[in-house]
Amino acid sequence: MSFETGQRRAEDGLDLLTSPAGRALLDRLDGTDVSATDELRLASALRREFPAELVTAALGQHELRVRARAKFSRAGRMFFTRDGLEQASAEPVAAHRAGRFAAAGRVRVADLCCGIGGDLVALAGAGADVRGVDLDPVHLRMATLNAAAYDVAGAVDTSRADVRDADLDGMDAAFVDPARRAGGRRLRTGDSEPPLDWCLALTARTPHVAVKAAPGLDRSLVPSGWETEFVADGRELKEAVIWSPAFATGKATRATVLPGGHQLLPSPGDPVPCRPPGPYLLDPSPAVTRAGLVEELARELGAWKIDPRIAFLSAEHPPHTPFGRTLRVLDDGPWREKELPARLRAHRIGPLDIRRRGLAGDVDALRRRLKTTGDRPGVLVMTRVNDRPWALLCEPVAGRS
Ligand SMILES: C[S@@+](CC[C@H](N)C(=O)[O-])C[C@H]1O[C@@H](n2cnc3c(N)ncnc32)[C@H](O)[C@@H]1O
Repeated sequence: MSFETGQRRAEDGLDLLTSPAGRALLDRLDGTDVSATDELRLASALRREFPAELVTAALGQHELRVRARAKFSRAGRMFFTRDGLEQASAEPVAAHRAGRFAAAGRVRVADLCCGIGGDLVALAGAGADVRGVDLDPVHLRMATLNAAAYDVAGAVDTSRADVRDADLDGMDAAFVDPARRAGGRRLRTGDSEPPLDWCLALTARTPHVAVKAAPGLDRSLVPSGWETEFVADGRELKEAVIWSPAFATGKATRATVLPGGHQLLPSPGDPVPCRPPGPYLLDPSPAVTRAGLVEELARELGAWKIDPRIAFLSAEHPPHTPFGRTLRVLDDGPWREKELPARLRAHRIGPLDIRRRGLAGDVDALRRRLKTTGDRPGVLVMTRVNDRPWALLCEPVAGRS
């Protein structure tokens, strides 16, 4: 199917879904647990009441809405394409970013490459007037519909254009979330449309610019004076955002952990000591490790490193921090796989999580070989202590993420 045919079908599908019959059918499906029913039988029952094309489109849209619940609290009222949903910023992440625009006093924001509107609705929700621009007519229509689902349609206008030709007159900031997928396929790592260079050059048109990038972003591509923020939601690293110097904090990086919005910034200090593991181990958030702020975290917690090159920290008392997961060390010693079963049995370890930093190995194959049978959840940490392969048997500390 050509790109144009695909687009026309998607537009026709959206016409059907937004018709009175389409909305009635989507509402009906919203109250039905489709996954618990025989979908073929359900589809043929619905086809007795609704046109077949509408039934197919509505079942597809319903499935996307169910998936979208992981990202959006109002997913049941929103519209998605598969690509649009996959690339959309989840509500907590978009809300955090929108808060930074608002805190910087940015009230007229261009959302370039607005997609189905994940960021658009968050920026408008944080009080900005937002101009959404996208090349894809279906995404653009969905962005408008989704703004209505979040009751912010009055603060949003959208226009179909290549962002290279977008009108930024009257805007006092721009946010770009360039596509990292095209035609249903992921672009090569580091590639985006438009490319990063183009996004960074937007400061020639408006000084306040933020660019969303993949969390694996090569930091050497970020010009000096810009800040790279790594954002995790819980333990999951979600994205990197590059903030132009006009948003200046004077810091090159930042680690943000949601949902609390906790932030860690670079702060110079004494070198962090390196010593053998003590009673507690801290596994820093990937936002902290990607932002290069492990030493800052260690200083804040009074913790030490267990190896000069490894990001695990250790402490005498259980650290209270949103920036990592705290583990109690049950025992530790040099990495000798044949001794592990006895060590695991001695601590009655059953369900086993394996964390690996600095040691090679197939974690799944190791878990199968170890066949733990105890009743206590444990964490086997494969790492290095003073450059020697090391095994720490740990247990999660209740209430510490
Ligand atoms: C990553 S998605 C945006 C997701 C959005 N921030 C959200 O939260 O829903 C990227 C979007 O860029 C659009 N796009 C790609 N190249 C473009 C261009 N040159 N001009 C305008 N839009 C473009 C795609 O159609 C797609 O909708």
